[in-house]
Amino acid sequence: MSRLIIVSNRVAPISEGGPAAGGLAVGVYDALKETGGMWFGWSGDVLSSGQLEIQLEERGPVTFATIGLLRRDYDQYYRGFSNATLWPAFHYRADLIQYDRHDFEGYCRVNTWLAQQLVPLLRPDDVIWVHDYHLIPFAQALRAAGVKNRIGFFLHIPFPASQVLLAVPPHRSLVEALCAFDLLGFQTAPDLRAFCDYIVNEAAGAVEVRPDGLTSVRAFGRTLRAGAYPIGVYPDEIAELAKAGERGKPVRTLKATLHSRKVIMSVDRLDYSKGLVERFRAFERLIDLAPAQRNQVSFLQIAPPTRADLHAYQDIRLRLEAESGRINGRFAELDWTPIRYIHRQYERSVLAALFRASHVGYVTPLRDGMNLVAKEYVSAQDPENPGVLVLSQFAGAAQELGGALIVNPFDIDGMADALAIALAMPLEERQARYRDMMAQLRENNVSVWRDNFMRDLARAGERSEDAVPPAASDGPVPQVPLAAE
Ligand code: G6P
Repeated sequence: MSRLIIVSNRVAPISEGGPAAGGLAVGVYDALKETGGMWFGWSGDVLSSGQLEIQLEERGPVTFATIGLLRRDYDQYYRGFSNATLWPAFHYRADLIQYDRHDFEGYCRVNTWLAQQLVPLLRPDDVIWVHDYHLIPFAQALRAAGVKNRIGFFLHIPFPASQVLLAVPPHRSLVEALCAFDLLGFQTAPDLRAFCDYIVNEAAGAVEVRPDGLTSVRAFGRTLRAGAYPIGVYPDEIAELAKAGERGKPVRTLKATLHSRKVIMSVDRLDYSKGLVERFRAFERLIDLAPAQRNQVSFLQIAPPTRADLHAYQDIRLRLEAESGRINGRFAELDWTPIRYIHRQYERSVLAALFRASHVGYVTPLRDGMNLVAKEYVSAQDPENPGVLVLSQFAGAAQELGGALIVNPFDIDGMADALAIALAMPLEERQARYRDMMAQLRENNVSVWRDNFMRDLARAGERSEDAVPPAASDGPVPQVPLAAE
């Protein structure tokens, strides 16, 4: 069997059970710990040039191969182009895009350099699976270094509509770079559709849905495949973690301080894409318009810091601190704090136990590739007495979790209504919704995600030998509707 090489900017914390840094690290680690393989990426350290050396560490079946970044590379590649240009653009926040062509050069330079670091570690039959927006030019860089292996790419965040992507000055180079992979994976059908729209309408390429459901893409002189692969979790593993923590200290403390009040719970990195301000205001609207809810329910928001050296993140932090202070000042009583806002990271096992103790999971990003918190919240519930998930229509997870109360995160009144419905939902309805979502989560767990992608990457590799002629660069190109629409 071929060895699996995962490449991503962020590599999971090597200590098992340690706090996780975002959905990618969690999902990829879950997928890799079963098959084993190598995980190559940034160590998280900013170092000087004499210290840049690959560190190898074996953990069970996984070899972690990590390397530091120079300060200038961190600034241009990670902080600059990845997180100040691509992240806002791909989350539909064109207003927050900051672009500097030197950052883009740094982004390309670091991709080339990282690819060169990986090359000596590769074997001829390795399958390479690259993850996320930091590494869009990675296949081009590997090919330039003579690598012939199959290379797939999975985008964990949304792929934006063309009109938003056009705001990123080097959009064409980016999409051309994506076309150097053999297989592209997106979280949802709408993301795949947005990519195909760019190919057809902006890159004069062609797309076609094949009988096996995959999309064949011809553009920039290449033929590749693309598909939607919604990332999952291991729901039963999370359920066990949650159950094991039911009598643990964090849950006991929470319950003791809540007395018998209900609790609404959210966990997000403190990111402007997560809709935190709107969410706080909807909770405020709930207790404002329904005085009977006052002193009966608390909202627990855990929001660990992230990318704190970027202005947009400092700004959202200040706004959130102001909102929680204002709302608590307005409604708090001697024995009740409406919002408990915690700016810190907790271990996954603690979060799972807290999810199980919460009556409502409140997951309302303005845009999100998938949002594994939504899936983890459902997984952690007690089947006999499950909580209710209130979920944004703009989270990828909403495409699958029809048993949630789906809300528009821009509609504050609508979200407040959904919270009231969730808090009052009868047991039978909660159980029915939970069963429906758990069935979906079990059917499409993280192994299925990995296996489907790997299966299609293997096929895409077979196909690239019988090269298909490149698309004509002018003239109208027919677009075949996608099966998954
Ligand atoms: C999201 C991204 C990941 C990223 C994570 C944490 O989940 O899709 O690629 O690793 O956020 O962000 P950070 O910048 O700390 O890696």
